[in-house]
Amino acid sequence: MSESTTVSDNDTIIESFAKRISALENENKALTEEMETLKVEREEARAKLFESLISNKKYLRELERLKKENSLLRRMPLFLATVVEMGEDYVMLRQHGNNQEFITTAPPEIMEKLEPNTRVAINNSLTIVRILERSVDVRAKTMELIEAPSITYDEVGGLDSQIQEIRETVELPLTRPEIFEEIGIEPPRGVLLYGLPGTGKTLLAKAVANHSMATFIHMSGSELVHKFIGEGAQLVRDIFQMAREKAPSIIFIDEIDAVGSIRTHDGTTGSAEVNRTMMQLLAEMDGFRERGDVKIIAATNRIDILDPALLRPGRFDRIIEIPMPSEQARLKILEIHTQKMKQSPEVDLAEIARETEGGNGAELKAIAVEAGMNAIRREANQVSREDFIAAVKKVLGEDEERTDESLRMFT
Ligand SMILES: Nc1ncnc2c1ncn2[C@@H]1O[C@H](COP(=O)(O)OP(=O)(O)O)[C@@H](O)[C@H]1O
Ligand SMILES: [Mg+2]
Repeated sequence: MSESTTVSDNDTIIESFAKRISALENENKALTEEMETLKVEREEARAKLFESLISNKKYLRELERLKKENSLLRRMPLFLATVVEMGEDYVMLRQHGNNQEFITTAPPEIMEKLEPNTRVAINNSLTIVRILERSVDVRAKTMELIEAPSITYDEVGGLDSQIQEIRETVELPLTRPEIFEEIGIEPPRGVLLYGLPGTGKTLLAKAVANHSMATFIHMSGSELVHKFIGEGAQLVRDIFQMAREKAPSIIFIDEIDAVGSIRTHDGTTGSAEVNRTMMQLLAEMDGFRERGDVKIIAATNRIDILDPALLRPGRFDRIIEIPMPSEQARLKILEIHTQKMKQSPEVDLAEIARETEGGNGAELKAIAVEAGMNAIRREANQVSREDFIAAVKKVLGEDEERTDESLRMFT
């Protein structure tokens, strides 16, 4: 009995094992199938990823190319040309200045806007870069350059002797021309201000204009070259014409190195255009000798690259260096820019002036603004010594000498 029970038990065990094995086999098969599907899916995903990587790379390359092209276009001077005739897939242009005609093409979005007499800007490789609005009125542009600055001499710090000199040369002949007549000397016509960036040249020119009560025509050399492409010489002519009509007037040529640099004589059409502008400028400067009521102020950061023709005696009566501010001048400039600022009593501007050796006027102004911002960030109602110290560090950086000093002073 017990034996048969065992046999039958064995049978059941075997049977149940067989069942389990077959169930497991089934499961195994299902899992293997699932794995196969997953493998296929993984391969697909991998392929897609690879594709994306490739197209990503393609886009990056395209981006890089466009960036390069963009910066190249921005750097290169542009020239003016007019459409002479055009066909389905070509445009014939005539370049202004040298009257050269040539054939080129343009992307469809530009092509469809072109018609004979359209004015376009082209680059060195004679590609159309943009379309210019029709017959831009140079006159209107000259008018745009007239400014009425409100800067006073009080807002210019630490340049007392330079202010004195420029007043004698520019302001006095405009406001009291009779003095020169009486003594019988020819009034000076112009000054050139030179010095490192941010030392207050533009500021000073504006102050002179304000005090002289003269029409102030402000143009920048780099604008002449880059914005008024192909029209530089014409614009110079018009500016002097306008200055004569609206006299007494001051023509301020900022960044004169952009038109009057010796480096531009490299024989390209771009430099030819810049040189034409420069020649016109020299001609105008020489031509208005008799006129006592139009003055020129020019400014440059780079007197070292200026064309010697501009520096020749007779062109500018005075060449005035605008120096980096001394400690005393720095104090003055800080005072100017913190005049309306609520400061806590322990703020000592003299200390800040001492600690900002090598900083220029623009940086000192930035320090004042930054110190104010620091106070605002702290939600304080006055600017503290620490606000200034942090501002000096932020604007001028951690100068080594300064750090040594600040170990003593700023701790
Ligand atoms: N001597 C200065 N006195 C007061 N502020 C100055 C002085 N120099 C520069 N600044 C400040 O810096 C700004 C930029 O100076 P800016 O006249 O454009 O310098 P530059 O023309 O010499 O490069 C000015 O608008 C002014 O706020
Ligand atoms: Mg300037």
